[in-house]
Amino acid sequence: MKRLCLLCFTAFCLFSLGACQTERKAQTLMKPSTFGALADGREVHAYTLENSAGMSATFIDYGATITSLSVPDRDGVSRDVVLGYDSIDGYVNGSAYFGAVVGRYGNRIGKGRFLLDGKEYRLTINNGENHLHGGNIGFNKVLWDTAILEDSDTPAVRFQYVSRDGEEGYPGTVTLKVTYSLTDKNELRIDYEGVTDKITILNPTQHSYFNLSGNFNEKILDHRLMIEADSFTPVDSGLIPTGELLPVEGTPLDFRQSQPIGARIDDPFEQLALGKGYDHNWVLRNYTGPGQVFKAAELYEPDSGRLMTVYTDQPGLQFYSGNFLDGSAIGKNGIAYGLRSGLCLETQVFPDSPNKPDFPSATLKPGQVYRQTTICQFSTRD
Ligand code: BGC
Repeated sequence: MKRLCLLCFTAFCLFSLGACQTERKAQTLMKPSTFGALADGREVHAYTLENSAGMSATFIDYGATITSLSVPDRDGVSRDVVLGYDSIDGYVNGSAYFGAVVGRYGNRIGKGRFLLDGKEYRLTINNGENHLHGGNIGFNKVLWDTAILEDSDTPAVRFQYVSRDGEEGYPGTVTLKVTYSLTDKNELRIDYEGVTDKITILNPTQHSYFNLSGNFNEKILDHRLMIEADSFTPVDSGLIPTGELLPVEGTPLDFRQSQPIGARIDDPFEQLALGKGYDHNWVLRNYTGPGQVFKAAELYEPDSGRLMTVYTDQPGLQFYSGNFLDGSAIGKNGIAYGLRSGLCLETQVFPDSPNKPDFPSATLKPGQVYRQTTICQFSTRD
């Protein structure tokens, strides 16, 4: 009898252990909480995904924003690697687009004008004489609807925004879904899906500012960057592409081999002067068409060993070295975000493509589905 009990007990323990392990494998937790409230009383919620490899990511439904991304260093110590604010007021009042999804059109459209099917559309002018990141109330300044997707092994949070016909001057009602998931391979995956009821343009992108050191008092100049691109789109003084593609070879924009960002940022090179540093679109060499995901860039921070590899199916990558950060934005833990304390790697169709017939198109017609997949994969290197 005693022996039978012992056998049963052992079997029970083994079974429980097995069950726990199955659960652990798929263990990616989500904890909705209140992040704050907007002036009109609507609540803003925060959603956290955690994986079993030491990473976690928090998102809010305001701007479909990534508010924190905790990533282990080479010793397994996790730190937040994205700039942002502690409270909703920062996101509502701020102008740097920290962590948000920007749209309807990420980056600039020259003079805020473009033609579609022979008709001219005029967008809000919010950046000198140009249109930037969707206008005054872009996708980063609105509350999105949320769905929690728990069915699969990798739970996800999906935000949806319906942008009405005429918003900021854009034609057509656009419905955009952005789905964030965090895999056990330390991949933050971002899937976009958009439709329209009239011909329009759509080019959303993720505007996180990374500082892989996890210390936002430090500049990003020692980070090493590699971009899989042989050419870039040079800009004019309003940061609008001229329409040419210039080879990176022999210029400070050559990141074909991994380079410290600070090594050439102050070189006397006209394009750097115009951008006040790096603020350009690189033409990704491995782009073959919609839906084909490829490696676009690698960002490495030598002190912590954190390495971020960016994969996308988009033709362009805007590398912005935080040149307009000037200490006036007071972010998480009261830190003033100084010049070049964070950098953005924005996967996209090229800036001003609606006015550049030779650039990849951002046009979306009724019946078509806009799709983008971008993956930020984290690992470490010695
Ligand atoms: C642009 C910068 C702009 C910044 C706004 C970037 O995507 O390329 O020119 O100043 O966003 O924070």
